[in-house]
Amino acid sequence: MVAPDRMGADVAALEGKVAIVTGGGSGIGAAIVRRLVRDGAATVVVDLDLASAQRVADEVREHGRARGAEADVTDEEAVRRAVELAVSEFGGLDIMVNNAGIGEAAEPIDERTAAAWHRVIETNLSSVFYGVKHAARVMKAQGRGGAIINMSSILGVVGFNGAPAYTAAKHGIVGLTQSVALELAAERIRVVSVSPAFIRTPLITGLEERVLPLHPLGRLGEANEVAALVA
Ligand code: NAI
Repeated sequence: MVAPDRMGADVAALEGKVAIVTGGGSGIGAAIVRRLVRDGAATVVVDLDLASAQRVADEVREHGRARGAEADVTDEEAVRRAVELAVSEFGGLDIMVNNAGIGEAAEPIDERTAAAWHRVIETNLSSVFYGVKHAARVMKAQGRGGAIINMSSILGVVGFNGAPAYTAAKHGIVGLTQSVALELAAERIRVVSVSPAFIRTPLITGLEERVLPLHPLGRLGEANEVAALVA
């Protein structure tokens, strides 16, 4: 028997599944949307920027079902509505990808404002709590299990000079994920986090030269490589 190509699309592997990808309008999130739709999942593309969410949904529609939706993931009620949209539009929720996130300006720690700190923690960590909570509520009620995938980072494992809030948020995602995974295992809901190294997307514009030497491969990662892992 030929071993399946794990990086390649297993078309129809996700047939009948419903997914949400937050931050799906750009970079890694957009690559995840393309992959999940190609694999058969009906997907809600959620982004703060509705136009980019709709552009990605329009682009993938020739391969399957997708629609864009506007939501600010720092707003719990907006996240709840996005989950409700997946249920009303596509009939349920099987895969929740909490991917939306932002970077942070490099400033000395003693000059950082609380407002800037809270913005990164809200966007990169509290948002994941909201996504896990509302996905879990629907998945538990459905009783057919599910998968919740939270986008951490290599900076959820190690530190990075100049990014204390981002690093704290990404470490926080790992702890949140591990605790909720234990809680939801009995419901057959897998809760996992993904920790990519630096991936060539708009998020790291201007950082490429600094971070390239940190990668033993001699190159940065590509968004479709993260998408393959998530799939
Ligand atoms: P990106 O900047 O290309 O895409 C992020 C998307 O999230 C954008 O479409 C943006 O509009 C959306 N977004 C931002 N704030 C939002 C909010 N409050 N509500 C809803 N949507 C919002 O960034 P990229 O690189 O694709 O990052 C995606 C995730 O991957 C982030 O969580 C990031 O921290 C993580 N990551 C990125 C790495 C990289 O090197 N690019 C490495 C490891 C993790």
